[in-house]
Amino acid sequence: MCGIVGYIGTKPVKEILIDGLRELEYRGYDSAGIAVLQNHQFSLFKAVGKLINLEEKAQKFESTGFSVGIGHTRWATHGKPTELNAHPHVGSSSYVVHNGIIENYQELKSKLTAQGSHFISQTDTEVIVHLFEFHLKTASSPFEAFTKTLEELEGAYAILLVTASVNDTIFFAKQGSPMIVGRNQENETLFGSSDAALIGKCHEVIYLEDGHYGIATADKISLYDKNNNQVDLHFTPLSENKLSAQKDGHRFFMEKEIYEQGTVLADTLMGRLRDETVYFEELPPELFDGIHSIKLCACGTSYHAALVATYLLERHAKIQTSVEIASEFRYREPLLSPDTLFVVISQSGETADTLESLKMAKKAGLKTLVICNVDNSSMVRLADASILTRAGIEKGVASTKAFATQVSVLWMLSLHLASERKTLQENEIARQIKLLRTLPSVVVVDNSIHEQLRRLSKRYLHGHGFFFIGRDVFFPLALEGALKLKEISYLHAEGYPSGEMKHGPIALADPELFTIALLPQHKLYDKTKSNVEELSARDSTICSISPLDFDKADDHIRTHFHEDYMLEFFEMMVVLQLLSMEIAVRLGNDVDMPRNLAKSVTVE
Ligand code: AGP
Repeated sequence: MCGIVGYIGTKPVKEILIDGLRELEYRGYDSAGIAVLQNHQFSLFKAVGKLINLEEKAQKFESTGFSVGIGHTRWATHGKPTELNAHPHVGSSSYVVHNGIIENYQELKSKLTAQGSHFISQTDTEVIVHLFEFHLKTASSPFEAFTKTLEELEGAYAILLVTASVNDTIFFAKQGSPMIVGRNQENETLFGSSDAALIGKCHEVIYLEDGHYGIATADKISLYDKNNNQVDLHFTPLSENKLSAQKDGHRFFMEKEIYEQGTVLADTLMGRLRDETVYFEELPPELFDGIHSIKLCACGTSYHAALVATYLLERHAKIQTSVEIASEFRYREPLLSPDTLFVVISQSGETADTLESLKMAKKAGLKTLVICNVDNSSMVRLADASILTRAGIEKGVASTKAFATQVSVLWMLSLHLASERKTLQENEIARQIKLLRTLPSVVVVDNSIHEQLRRLSKRYLHGHGFFFIGRDVFFPLALEGALKLKEISYLHAEGYPSGEMKHGPIALADPELFTIALLPQHKLYDKTKSNVEELSARDSTICSISPLDFDKADDHIRTHFHEDYMLEFFEMMVVLQLLSMEIAVRLGNDVDMPRNLAKSVTVE
């Protein structure tokens, strides 16, 4: 998730922009930049890495008197983190910053290039400023050129654009990505992609809605809706609590990250779903040439995502798939063959065991792919190819949205390979693509379920442990649910295939043993139900998670009916994330920074 700031006023604009970007650092970024327009002259500064690098570049610059400025911190989605790819992006006399993904940027880029536009970056964003300047040639005003530009953009965007011919103006638009406009008693106008950037600078703000766009000057904001009707300005007071703003008002970063999974998954899917195929523009077409099996390798939650992928890759792409825990793989002298694609999964891209496993695979001559959330990380730089999960920075040590995006990328990869290998009918691929498109709505937290979990959590604070059980892809989900609980509540929990209970674990069954049972309607329901009944018959305390009522359960979380087990998977994932969080809250634990844990394990 990138950070955006904007300012119109008479104060020293560089400091205001950089301070605003600093308040957005928590969102994660790999490069940053500002552009200032004063007396029809632009000053532009961009730098890779942290804001200190940008400050050094802009050290000698100071604005005096009235100016307009825009700033941006970039979390790379298209194109490596380089100064050329950093925002603001420039035309001949205009600058733009953007958060989101322009889905049709390649088509626009080709059209504009053919008409003489000169692109210097690999980003989707750059098409915005060139398209604006293309329309500027014929439009009756810069504002008309801006509206014509918006009409051609597809995808998600929060945009600030400035152009030399209108020295006191910022053009803005919001579709899918957050944008807030604020004002204060000193007759200044400010913008931010999060109100964290505006706290202390504005006293009232407008949270723009999808389809909103407009034009802002020092003393006037004109706002329009998606039907091009002018909208009255309804400002709301701005909270003074920066940390709360960074958590978007949630109690913890983990809670915020659970609640933003819908928005994040929309980014993950953006530009990758066609009607009957999945398209990864970042994958070299020859990557799968000569490949007859896949080996996945990861740690922790990423390992659970890899386990899910073994079911999907073999089921959809009919390709032999295995999975390794990286810390084991490193030392077991594995037999590797060059017709195996080695896929590592990592949120951070820096986990030592996974990184060393990747090096082993490369040394053995295997083609390598990394599925990662951090561009320019060690693994991304080392692998032959990478697919970014676009989850934005994940501050909670207990991984949530990173897992959701990893599984959705792996699901897409299984369909991409199924299409390449012709192992699924086109109509089946199309059906599953339709399911993928609904993911952002499937993972939206159901407040009544969250409230039920908050109440329920008081019953699960003691006992001598938890079983999380499920079958098929719900077995790795059970493992993930158990890990979430262990990580933040410090209670003992194990994930198990539900069919394994009678092979020993059921000896533990008694009222003090809590079984969290995943009972999806569309995947082995009856088999799983009978396993749970065996536990219930031995007086284990059962909490069933299912769209179907289950009379043997002591507690039941009724999830929604879905047409497919993979949608049930994602909804049950959210339930497990919330359950572990609410239990940890009751125990008074530090949800975001659990004891003994680090966000990225960069040592063995
Ligand atoms: C998951 O909640 C944990 N934070 C941990 O298991 C994590 O998934 C593991 O350390 C792997 O990290 P990575 O995805 O950054 O490689």
